[in-house]
Formats: sequence, structure tokens, C-alpha cells
Amino acid sequence: MKALVLAGGHGTRLRPLTFTGNKHMLPIANQPILHYALKSLAAAGIRDVGIILGPIQEGIGETIGDGSAFGLRVEYIRQGEPKGLAHAVLCAREFLGNEPFLMHLGDNLLQSGVQQFLHRFESRRPDAVVGATPVAHPEHYGVVELDGERILSIEEKPLLPKSHLALIGVYLFTDAIHDVIEHLAPSRRGELEITEAIWQLCRRGKEVSVLEVRGWWKDTGHPDDLLEANELVLGSLPTEEFRLQGSIEPGAIVEGHVAVGPGSVIERGARILGPTVLGAGVRVSGDSVVGPNTAIGNRVSLHRARVRRSIIMDGARIEGVALANSLIGRNVEIRSARPQAGEAIVTLGDSARISL
Ligand code: DAU
Repeated sequence: MKALVLAGGHGTRLRPLTFTGNKHMLPIANQPILHYALKSLAAAGIRDVGIILGPIQEGIGETIGDGSAFGLRVEYIRQGEPKGLAHAVLCAREFLGNEPFLMHLGDNLLQSGVQQFLHRFESRRPDAVVGATPVAHPEHYGVVELDGERILSIEEKPLLPKSHLALIGVYLFTDAIHDVIEHLAPSRRGELEITEAIWQLCRRGKEVSVLEVRGWWKDTGHPDDLLEANELVLGSLPTEEFRLQGSIEPGAIVEGHVAVGPGSVIERGARILGPTVLGAGVRVSGDSVVGPNTAIGNRVSLHRARVRRSIIMDGARIEGVALANSLIGRNVEIRSARPQAGEAIVTLGDSARISL
């Protein structure tokens, strides 16, 4: 079965923070978000993947290439302007042919993977399989209302949701979806909505099977979601992913599940508390404390700093401050000559500079 991974879209909620490149390349536990979808598809035995590209593409082709590093054969499909998830399927019509396919939103992370969608499809042979999970704020998602296994309604971001079951961003479709999409009208926000296409499938009497997914699921559209996804992924990485390379000097403390990349130096007096990952060429000095639930990218320097539950991207330099729940872009510099009272919560786009 082929798969479609969506990495287009507007990126508007993250764009004001001036993160450069495509938003699906932002790191979760030091891996681009998009890589998780690709790994999950490869683990389920998928080989052929079409990646949908929008107007902002930087970083995707360079790191994924032809997909062979993931055990995949990747083709790139240009969507141009983001006119909706169903429009992306329309753009991929030739790539998909008439075979069933999996569709994975590139900003979604699903702990239990995509295999369960294939199992459901093979055991029941429905016209589509959609995933759902209960959430606190269903109004931010597609919402499905069920009576047992029967679908009563499906709506996109309803003001008054009829249930707490959100549609997650993984779908399995047969070719029945193509005819529906060809006849779909744009929604109020001007997009061809996949949620509406699924509802139209139901209205045509096609069988749409709803899979209640287990384990955590995260849509990483918002900065807070990135931090939460980072914590969830760090908490569920297999032990063998935490490898200590680089140099941990005598008198430095490393506790719990910690990864340290090649060329990194943890100086005497520094403490790293797991789960935490540090990339390559990182320097932690001056009694800094890092972690738990923290991802530090490559070539980051931390001096007299405390950082917990945060993402610090490549090339950042942090000195003399305590940060928590913070998202720090690439090559950011934060310095304070005087000790700060309490922890700061900071979200900073790439290359920002702060002197306190
Ligand atoms: O995350 C689950 C939710 O995803 C579902 O509950 C909703 O029903 C579904 O519509 C979708 O809602 P979002 O508002 O999160 O969609 P967003 O615009 O953020 O786009 C989702 C992904 O698809 C994202 O990785 C960007 C990509 N995309 C989006 C659009 C609109 C494209 O590749 N092309 C597009 O035209």
C-alpha cells in the first residue's frame, strides 16, 4: 500500500516566531517532526511514500532525499498553495492510482503507530478507516459523533462539538474517496476539507470504520504542543536510543535516561537529568543543570544555566539564566550577567538575541 504524508500548509501559528524553513522540520527529541511519520510508515511495512510540499519546502528534500535512509521510496508532490487536506489528495491523484492508501498528516505524532489502521482495513475491508481519540478541546479538531460503531455525524472544528472524540491525522482510504473529492465544494475557510469528504462517504452509504487509537497522540501545530510532544517522545524512547558519546568529565553528574552526542562535553559540576537528549558538539559548563524532559540540539552552549522541559535548537548559546517550558530557536543568544530570580518561560524564533 502507498502512503501520502502532508508537509505543506500555511504554518501560520508558528510563522510569527520566524522559525526558518518548513515547520515539519522543527525538532522533537532532536528529530524533525516529519521523520516520525516516515518511521512509523516504514515500521508498518509501507515502502512507497508521496510527500506533499507546499510553498515553504526548505529542509525537507535535503534531509529525506529519496527516502532510502528510512527504507522508503519517496516521491515529492507539489501542492503549491495550501487549499486543504482533500486538495492535497487531489494533487496526488496520479501517484495514488486506484489502490487503497494511508494518509499521515506530517505534524501528527501517534505513539501506537499506523499498523493498527492496516489491521482494521484487512479485517473488515471498509471504504475508509479513520482514527479517533477523546480530547479536552474537541472544537480544535475534526469531531466524530458515534452511536456504538455507527457514525452519527462528522464535523470540522465545530463551535459546539457533539462529542469529545477528535479525528486524528491518520486515515486509510480506498479509491472511493477520489470521486467524493472531485465533487467537494470549498468550506467556509476556503479549503477542501478531508473531514467533509469523509462525511460525504458516510452519506453515500460507504463504510467508514472508526478506530479508537490507544496511547498518546499529538498534533504539533502550536508551540506548547511541541513541548508536550517533546516530553511524550522523550518519555517513550527505547533505552538503546540514549547513548552517551562525547566526554563526561569527572565531577559531572548524569542521571536517568540521557543521550549525549559525539563531540559534546559535560564539564565538571554540570548535571544532566533524564529523560534528556543532547546533540553533537554541545558544551555544558559552569554548574549548569539540564533536564528533565529537555532536548538540546547540536553545537549548543550552556553556561551557568538551568533548563528543564524545553527544546533548545542548534547553535543556541544560553548563559546565566534559568529556563522552563521554553522553545528556543536556532542560533539564539540569551545572556545574563546577574543571577535571575526564578525560572523564565521563553518562546524565541531563530537568531533572537537577549541580554539581561
Ligand atoms: O491533527 C488532526 C487534525 O488535522 C484533524 O482533527 C482535523 O480534522 C484536520 O482538518 C486537521 O486539522 P488542522 O487544523 O490541524 O490542519 P492543518 O491545517 O494544521 O494541516 C494539517 C497538516 O497538513 C499539516 O502538517 C500541514 C498539512 N497541510 C495542510 C493544508 C491545509 C498540507 O500539506 N496542505 C494543506 O493544504
